[in-house]
Amino acid sequence: MSLKELPTLTSRGGLGGALRFKRDQLGFLAAGVRHHGDLFRFRLLGVPMVLANRPDHIRHILVDEDDRYDKDTIIFKVVRPVLRNGLIAVADRELWRRQRRMMAPLFTPRTIAGFARNMTDETERMLARWERRRQADEALLDVTDEIGQLALRVVNRSLFSADVSRAAQEFERAFGTANSILGSFFRFPFPPLSVPTPRHHRLRQAIDHMDRFVSDMINKRLGEEETTGVPGTPADLLTLLLRSVDEEDGTGMEAEQLHHEVLNICIGAYETTTNALSWGLYLLARHPEVEGRLHDEVDRVLGGRIPQFEDLPRLVYTRMIIDETLRLYSPAYQTMRHAREEDAIAGYRIPAGSNILINSYLLHRHPEFWPEPERFAPDNFAPERVSVRPKHAYIPFGSGPRVCIGKHFALAELTLALAMVARRHRLVLPEDARKVEPEPLITLHPRGGIHLRLVCR
Ligand code: HEM
Repeated sequence: MSLKELPTLTSRGGLGGALRFKRDQLGFLAAGVRHHGDLFRFRLLGVPMVLANRPDHIRHILVDEDDRYDKDTIIFKVVRPVLRNGLIAVADRELWRRQRRMMAPLFTPRTIAGFARNMTDETERMLARWERRRQADEALLDVTDEIGQLALRVVNRSLFSADVSRAAQEFERAFGTANSILGSFFRFPFPPLSVPTPRHHRLRQAIDHMDRFVSDMINKRLGEEETTGVPGTPADLLTLLLRSVDEEDGTGMEAEQLHHEVLNICIGAYETTTNALSWGLYLLARHPEVEGRLHDEVDRVLGGRIPQFEDLPRLVYTRMIIDETLRLYSPAYQTMRHAREEDAIAGYRIPAGSNILINSYLLHRHPEFWPEPERFAPDNFAPERVSVRPKHAYIPFGSGPRVCIGKHFALAELTLALAMVARRHRLVLPEDARKVEPEPLITLHPRGGIHLRLVCR
């Protein structure tokens, strides 16, 4: 069967498309879909790109034919100076396989259940701080910053059994700098990161800062006796990483690889979870009818208690709110794959070497699969709707072998934290509230942050 050539999104002059992509990446791609449909190619500063925007394309690339694709592609080249050879960006398939084999047992629902206390304890602490501020009439919260600290504390307690409050704020700042510089470098990759501009110097400093944070935590642990925490509580993730041995060759992780994996877990867990819960609280503030149903469920299921991991299957509507938030504002809203060989998708030729862009901001608004795509409607995730929708219309955690390893961790944390906020409090829009727009950095950040006022229910 002869293959068709992909439609091409052209722009006047080689630089035109790149400049439009830099200015408005999501608008540029949405216009491409309007003109050329769900599969088209374009060039960014000479680099051949293909946008794939249908569930069957995504399943083909990430699941059915994943052997034909790897992560040796621009977006991962952009983030590799930070993430190095850790699980998120590593392109070497053998190294990835070995690391994933060793790390998968650390992220099963059973292991995650042991970390649920970290999630609820830290949320309690945050809410107590919010309540003190409310009583002191300082109830306008910088929600993104607050949730960022919560997410970092939870992942650090789970990794290191440590309270890292002050260091967490500094890590947050360093990550924010790197996310913003690399986000704009991805949209317009010039000049190369090796050119010593003041911005690139700031990036270097931010990376050094995050590296120092991770080395300090690991060195502290190596200097101590191996901790398994209070008897009866699970070993932390660092202990599990230090103990993990590859079943095929019986060896553990090199020190450098361990450093990269710890950093990947911190980064993978921090910004995505922060954005998801911040957007979720913002959407609830704008949709009191959804919030009312959330309160009913939380009251009925918890009866005033603090939730536990075992409550998760009964927090059905709470979870639907999380799922819908991850649809509208998918924090990891784009990924890429590199075609290692020529392939065919939906009868079109995919040339070897193509950089395939998958953008879940667009996919999650595809009108064929989502009625009223822009509306915040948790009922999109009622079981009867999920069962008739193609699975790959919704990929907030990716799919296939490289699906997010922290998915169960994230969903437990998000659901427990949301239920805890809703138990006694509401977050409402301040009087002068403006609509918060998404800012497509490496992750989908709320532009200007989210600021809400805390009130009691
Ligand atoms: C709402 C929260 C989260 C979202 C939306 C998210 C999203 C994603 C996505 C889309 C991928 C796949 C990327 C691709 O295919 O290119 C991924 C991979 C990954 N995530 Fe997450 N993630 C979240 C939370 C977490 C947490 C809590 C952790 C760690 C505790 C984590 C660690 C990782 C790692 C290590 C990978 C690489 C997996 C591999 O390639 O084997 N993530 N994440």
